[in-house]
Amino acid sequence: MQQRQLGPFKVGAIGLGCMNICHAYANALSEHQAERLLLGALDLGVTHFDTAALYGFGASERMVGNILSKYRSQFTLASKCGMQGVDKKGDGVLVRVIDGKAQTIKKTCEDALKRLKTDVIDLYYLHRWDKEVPIEDSVGALSDLVREGKIQTIGLSEVSSLTLRKACAVHPVAAVQTEYSLWTRNPEIELLSVCKELGVSFVAFSPVARGFLTGALNDVSNLGEKDIRRSMPRFSTENYKKNIELLSEYKNFATSRGITPAQVALGWLLNKGENILPIPGTQSLEHLRENCAAHSVQFTAQEMAELDILINHQNVSGHRYNEQSRSEVDTEDFV
Ligand SMILES: NC(=O)c1ccc[n+]([C@@H]2O[C@H](COP(=O)([O-])OP(=O)(O)OC[C@H]3O[C@@H](n4cnc5c(N)ncnc54)[C@H](OP(=O)(O)O)[C@@H]3O)[C@@H](O)[C@H]2O)c1
Repeated sequence: MQQRQLGPFKVGAIGLGCMNICHAYANALSEHQAERLLLGALDLGVTHFDTAALYGFGASERMVGNILSKYRSQFTLASKCGMQGVDKKGDGVLVRVIDGKAQTIKKTCEDALKRLKTDVIDLYYLHRWDKEVPIEDSVGALSDLVREGKIQTIGLSEVSSLTLRKACAVHPVAAVQTEYSLWTRNPEIELLSVCKELGVSFVAFSPVARGFLTGALNDVSNLGEKDIRRSMPRFSTENYKKNIELLSEYKNFATSRGITPAQVALGWLLNKGENILPIPGTQSLEHLRENCAAHSVQFTAQEMAELDILINHQNVSGHRYNEQSRSEVDTEDFV
């Protein structure tokens, strides 16, 4: 696997998003299935694993800890705080809460270290900026955790370039993680150039557009009841029907290069900048193998320009998030 710099860490160019093992789209994997996937990832040269307190309300961190802690020295571990499950009514039902207060961040980190079975998290992101807490306070809490040796570096997720600059004034930021793919171009407005200017790595989440750019998701009416794509405007029956029309030329492009649509999506990201690291998520070892093989895809400037035109924020139908989720992010937006 070709290597890229993630903050101070050298990692495989393709990382693994570990949300999918127990959250978001399909039912959670069993521990046995997750073991096959995560150990398979290590075998394929994946050395960047991304999880969060939010995913499965701790279940993803727990699985990653149970399965990978034996191999801890072989990979870079990224996790996130600031958005997690909270038992608000005291009835044992956890609900998702954004909370960037210093004491919450520190408690979440303590819990994460136990779940992950490690002494230190290499890259610890603030999952969302809690707009009720100054970013300086949340980053200040993360910098305390660096001083205490509990985390090595700090990351931010779904932030604007202004918030990134404010955070960097408190403590160096190793990486920003935000949605980026052919159909989600928000980072191109300003964030990517600010990351470059400040020497911040850019981790692209949902790099195969939550399945859309793999060409394998043809019928959104089959999505499970709890699948989060059901709440995303681009995946509504009406919009998806239009979006899928964009795929025919895109698939032809892939075929003519002898690679798969998923590999085109990942290759496009890798060719967009040396500091960009995609973290596709999957439950399938076969898909993981296909995704990892994209590490060496190279496109000419002309091919990149062609792809830029084929699928972009202007010809896609529907917003990436619903109103609620849009109000929770801080990223620059085209709309
Ligand atoms: N910071 C944030 O706020 C945030 C938000 C979302 C995600 N993330 C991170 O980013 C990671 C990836 O994002 P994501 O899972 O939302 O989107 P994604 O990686 O773009 O897409 C995942 C979906 O695509 C399918 N897929 C992946 N590779 C495939 C292939 N080669 N062929 C066919 N289908 C394929 C997966 O299904 P199969 O399981 O069937 O392969 C899954 O349904 C997450 O795991 C998480 O770590 C972060």
